[in-house]
This record gives sequence, C-alpha cells and structure tokens, in this order.
Amino acid sequence: SSAQVQDPKDESQELLQTLEQQLVWNSSWFVKYDGFWFPVRLFKAILSTRKYFKAKETDIILSTMPKSGTTWLKALTFCIVNRDVYIIDENPLLTATPHTVVPFFEYNTYAEQENPDLEHIPSPRIFSTHISFNVLPNSIRESNCRIIYICKNPLDQFISHWLFMLEMKIGKDAKPLAMDEAFDMFCQGNHPFGPFWAHMLGYWNAHLNSPQNVLFLKYEDLKEDITLSIKKIAEFLGFPFSLDEQKQGAIQQISRFCSFEHLSTLEVNKNGNFLGMVKNSSFFRKGEVGD
Ligand code: A3P
Repeated sequence: SSAQVQDPKDESQELLQTLEQQLVWNSSWFVKYDGFWFPVRLFKAILSTRKYFKAKETDIILSTMPKSGTTWLKALTFCIVNRDVYIIDENPLLTATPHTVVPFFEYNTYAEQENPDLEHIPSPRIFSTHISFNVLPNSIRESNCRIIYICKNPLDQFISHWLFMLEMKIGKDAKPLAMDEAFDMFCQGNHPFGPFWAHMLGYWNAHLNSPQNVLFLKYEDLKEDITLSIKKIAEFLGFPFSLDEQKQGAIQQISRFCSFEHLSTLEVNKNGNFLGMVKNSSFFRKGEVGD
C-alpha cells in the first residue's frame, strides 16, 4: 500500500501537522507527542527509532531527562561492562566523549540515518535517550533488555538545564529566557522532554512492574555513595564484581575514572562540541547537589 512505501520524513511531516507545537523555553519549536514535548527537529529521528529499532536481550538503554546525569551514567555503564575489554589506559573514553561512545537514538543514531545497521555493534550495545517511557520503541518494552533511568532533584535539573540552554546555539526564533519565566513553564510541564514528573513516573512505574528490566537511579544517590551505585549497576546488568576484583580496587578505579574531576579535565571533553550545538565542556559544569 502507499502507506508502506511512505518515507518517514513524509510520515513525520504529516503527523506534525496534526500535533500541537510550541516555542518551548523560547529556544526552538517543540511538538507534543503522546503527552511529552519533543524538539520538532528530532521528531523524524524519534519516529524512526520507534519504527526501526530492534532490541536485543543484551541491549542496555540509558534513559534520562536532560541534565540528570546522562554523561556520568554513560561513562560508568561503558566502563562497567567493558572492564575486561580495555585496560584503563586504553579506554576509548580517554579520546572520545561519553556522548560519542554511547550515542543518543534521537540526536545521533537515527538522526544520521533513517534505518542504520546496528547489527555489527558488539554486545552489549549501549544506547541512550531522553524519550519518555511511553514513547520508547515497542521493541524495547517487549524485549528483555535492560533500561537504566537516572533522575535528579527537579530544582537542580531545572537550574542545570536552564544554564545549559543559555550556552546552546539556539534557533532563529529564540531569545534568552529569563529564569522565572523558564521556571513557570517548567512547573506547567512546558519544557524540553517534559513534563518532568510524568517522565519520571513513566520509568518509575516501569521499574515497579519489571524491576529486573528497569533500574531507577537518583543522581543524588550516586553522589552520596558511588561505590554502592557502581555495584548496583553492575549487578543489575549481569556484570557483578567478583570478590577478587573488589579486593583489587576495580570499583574504585571506575569511580575515579568516571569522576567529574577526571572526565572534565580530559582534552576531548574540554574541547570540541556536541553536534555543533553546544561545547563539550558544557556537559561538565559543577557536578554538585543543591546548586
Ligand atoms: P550541573 O549543571 O549541575 O553541574 P547530563 O549529563 O544529563 O547532561 O547532566 C549534566 C549534569 O551532570 C551537569 O550538572 C554536570 O556538571 C553533571 N556531570 C557531568 N559529568 C559528571 C560526572 N562525571 N560526575 C558528576 N556529575 C557530572
């Protein structure tokens, strides 16, 4: 049928016409899709992710609201599952940013190509996304793969995101947004990938329904006890630390390697930019709770 041969660009364009759109946070146009605000320019990639992504049991999906600890979680997860693959001095994170090593579905994988071949990626494949749980591809929700969600106290997430947006190269309709104005919109759920609580609740309920598939983490807990958090992530992913490894300090090695202090001082994270949108260094601001 004609529907089957339609190119997703047209599909996404057609669907866009039927959906509510807003200039969210004065930054760029967002579309409300299944209850959540997504950037219009990512909409095609989000639909392609839903349409084409085929989850494997061994896949790991890292889900977050922006600024909740995505960069940190990417580095930690990559180091945990690849600790037997790379010696620490040859870790790819020394020369590539966490966002290069663990791509986003909507900014990278499905933005670069409509239906990329992901079969050749060695297991476990790690992807990340800001997509809300209800909008994830069915394939992820139906498979036995692992999802890790990390969230952050909304006050800190809001401040971190608002400051990040000021650093971003913004769209032509954009103007700098005052904090109180941004905060009012945030409280009403009109913010990138919001509403905040619904985003968290989607993943929280998924965790309650299927704790073996969905791990729910809080940024503050990682800050408080990173050793325990690394152990928890490793066990959840099926890569537990043996007693020998623990005695040899394998957990401390990963926690130090992925620390704000270490990652933020690497040349690769100090220079360059993310998709021409924002400096890589903007992903490392303060890394503190209660700012
Ligand atoms: P702040 O702006 O409060 O400093 P994301 O990675 O989801 O974009 O979130 C970015 C936030 O996490 C920023 O918060 C950033 O400083 C902090 N962050 C980045 N890397 C970190 C790390 N290795 N350890 C702790 N926090 C980190």
